[in-house]
Amino acid sequence: MAKRKNNGGAVDGAGSVLSTVAGPAAPPHPTRLGPPNPIAGQLLEKVTGDETLAAEMPFNSTKPLEYGEAAYTPHKGETHTPPTPIATASTCTETVASEKVGDGQPDIGDNAINRPLDRVRVDDTGRELTTNQGVPVADNQNSLKAGLRGPTLMEDFILREKLTHFDHERIPERAVHARGSAAHGYFESYEDLRAITRAAPFAAAGKRTPVFVRFSTVAGERGSADTVRDVRGFAVKFYTDDGNWDLVGNNIPVFFIQDAMKFPDLVHAVKPEPHHAMPQASSAHDTFWDFASLSPEIAHMLMWQTSDRAIPRSYRMMQGFGVHTFRLVNDKGASLFCKFHWTPMAGTHSLVWDEAVRIAGADPDYHRRDLWEAIDSGQFPEWELGLQLFTEEQAAQFPFDILDPTKIVPEELVPVRPVGKMVLDRNPDNFFAETEQAAFCAAQVVPGIDFTNDPLLQGRLHSYIDTQITRLGGPNFHEIPINTPVAQIHNNQREGFHRQQINRGRVNYEPNSLAGGCPFQAGARGFVSVPEPSQGNEVRGKPELFADHYSQARLFWVSQSAVEQRHIIDAFRFELTRVQTPAVRSRVLALLLNIDERLAGAVADGLGMVLPPPLPLSSDNPPHDYQPSPALSLFARPGALGVRTRRVAWMVGQGAEGGQVRKLYAALLDAGAVPRLISARIGPLATSDDAPLDVEISFETGPSVLWDGVIVADSPVFVGDAQALEFLRLQYQHDKPILALGNGAELLKAAKIPRKPDPGVIVAESADAEAALASFKEMLARHRVYARERA
Ligand code: HEM
Repeated sequence: MAKRKNNGGAVDGAGSVLSTVAGPAAPPHPTRLGPPNPIAGQLLEKVTGDETLAAEMPFNSTKPLEYGEAAYTPHKGETHTPPTPIATASTCTETVASEKVGDGQPDIGDNAINRPLDRVRVDDTGRELTTNQGVPVADNQNSLKAGLRGPTLMEDFILREKLTHFDHERIPERAVHARGSAAHGYFESYEDLRAITRAAPFAAAGKRTPVFVRFSTVAGERGSADTVRDVRGFAVKFYTDDGNWDLVGNNIPVFFIQDAMKFPDLVHAVKPEPHHAMPQASSAHDTFWDFASLSPEIAHMLMWQTSDRAIPRSYRMMQGFGVHTFRLVNDKGASLFCKFHWTPMAGTHSLVWDEAVRIAGADPDYHRRDLWEAIDSGQFPEWELGLQLFTEEQAAQFPFDILDPTKIVPEELVPVRPVGKMVLDRNPDNFFAETEQAAFCAAQVVPGIDFTNDPLLQGRLHSYIDTQITRLGGPNFHEIPINTPVAQIHNNQREGFHRQQINRGRVNYEPNSLAGGCPFQAGARGFVSVPEPSQGNEVRGKPELFADHYSQARLFWVSQSAVEQRHIIDAFRFELTRVQTPAVRSRVLALLLNIDERLAGAVADGLGMVLPPPLPLSSDNPPHDYQPSPALSLFARPGALGVRTRRVAWMVGQGAEGGQVRKLYAALLDAGAVPRLISARIGPLATSDDAPLDVEISFETGPSVLWDGVIVADSPVFVGDAQALEFLRLQYQHDKPILALGNGAELLKAAKIPRKPDPGVIVAESADAEAALASFKEMLARHRVYARERA
């Protein structure tokens, strides 16, 4: 409580306190404002408290610290505690309570907007329907009319509100990465990494930080199919104690271009061509390959994009990468360079191309559904976070520039150090409110993490908030619940569309004395940039090492297995066959020649084209000859999930051995797989015993491509229709394990599944069903029988 001089109940200057303009030249203040009145009493206390607080700061004592040498050490702002809370209030009436304004006891130093999402979660159980103003709606079926057959009346504010809101339900989709899905979870640090970074998530072993993660495709529109050939976004928002850190990465560790200046060109080239808006979500068209073949820095990325990485089996089975080189900084200001890696516990697995294309029709939501189903069934996806850490001195020795986002740091050069795991254990309540309104931003880092001069990253630091101001309708999207940090927000930013915070007090600037200097600058506790020396003439250009476009593209190529190389060739053939301009195709062949002659030759062969001379190199320096890196092959990343979450179609026919099906079905379920009985139609199916089987899904609804493997039950009668045979043929063609029991083998024969040695085609008598199921599970856990494919 403020100490006031007792001036004998004086009223000198009382009128000034009661007014909002002008006042006496000097204190003391009056001690009463006329007849006793509690609000006026508070007003007096507030004005006196204000004066006392302001007087504590006769000058700005930290000003000299902004200049010269002193500026290198961030200083904490000067701050004083208000003599009474009411001193910093907006109004002395803040203690008046009501159901709307609150209990009249403001939470000093708190921003309620940072509280958990419970504060905005809505449930309607037992509630009547209302308008947005809370007015109960008597009739939600009919608009208000002048007579039963009469015109609708303007007066119908309920109809107008409903239609108006509906009319504005859509917001713009993201300029890129429009199609995506997300989930909540947590990151848990394995160890105390404070010697390396002061970033809050790594402060202690076992420390958990909440995360929200969104996976996406890049080129397609919001409603496009999940399984198109494309890079996948892998964006992680860490809600840390020190604010939000967004690690906005991809499932491929390199990028198409080296400088932000080219991003709009790249995206224009890959998006549907502007004259007829085709094709959707595909790079297989002239403008992309025209741009690509004139931008040889893209070579390394093209190898990844035509590989199976670009058609993942599941979001849960993708690696993630920060792509750029970042810095980790400890509390002494010492920093190391860092590349971020996410490694899925489920292994890194892909679809095969024909399957991906068919799934796009059969279930365009394939990845969205897969993520949702896994989480909602308690099979929480997990990734390990790994760091590649290296010093400036090491970086100087590398045969590439660490600022070049078209280069990886091979794991053989710098091993990946596992530092924690991420678990996604909660689906969102509402797709729009959470997934669609989530705003990730490459510029959002926390103390302990810093950027490098990667010229692509530097451009990204600008673009995200910029685009979100339009996409989310103004500058206050950080207040949308999914975007608010769990750390407190306190600053002097105010107003703008859809402002939700109600800031207490009249101070919205700094320095101030009227709020005791608050919010005060954090000094060394706050975010401090690494003081990297920077000198040079202004120039638009790139360092010499950026000009080596092919060495790492070749590294990727030579690190792939024969099957993976075959898939890359097929992908180039597909993409370039869709290109209509021969000169563009020819330029791509010329680019490929600089990576590998066999690759270029095989692609040219598929196009019926003659190989042109190679593209001229961008540098006279000889390419670097990397040793193959086994870590780059998908085959090196089987994961440790076994058959968990694997979807198994169980083909059953009339008279199947019901008891056996039930027993094996339960065994598969217990192993964590997801079996479902499939036949020509759903419903009861007569079995050899008395209990019919309940068929869960039909061939039409669950076509072959949606399953990881198939079991053909021992049934005397099969519906040998075209659908069943097609189902089996595709399972075989897509390298999936097949188990046929007893008479089920007849169906394999009818489907013309080749009878040659194949570990993935298991045929067994019913009596040996359990052993056969064990072999089937082993193959299922290996994801595919790639040996089946021609190399
Ligand atoms: C200069 C280069 C780049 C620019 C200008 C740029 C720009 C953008 C823009 C405008 C968005 C839409 C954001 C939104 O509406 O919320 C976006 C999303 C995204 N970008 Fe970039 N981007 C660039 C490079 C990259 C790179 C190199 C990566 C990967 C390391 C990347 C990963 C992502 C991801 C994952 C998203 C989706 C985030 C989400 O799920 O909401 N971008 N980018």
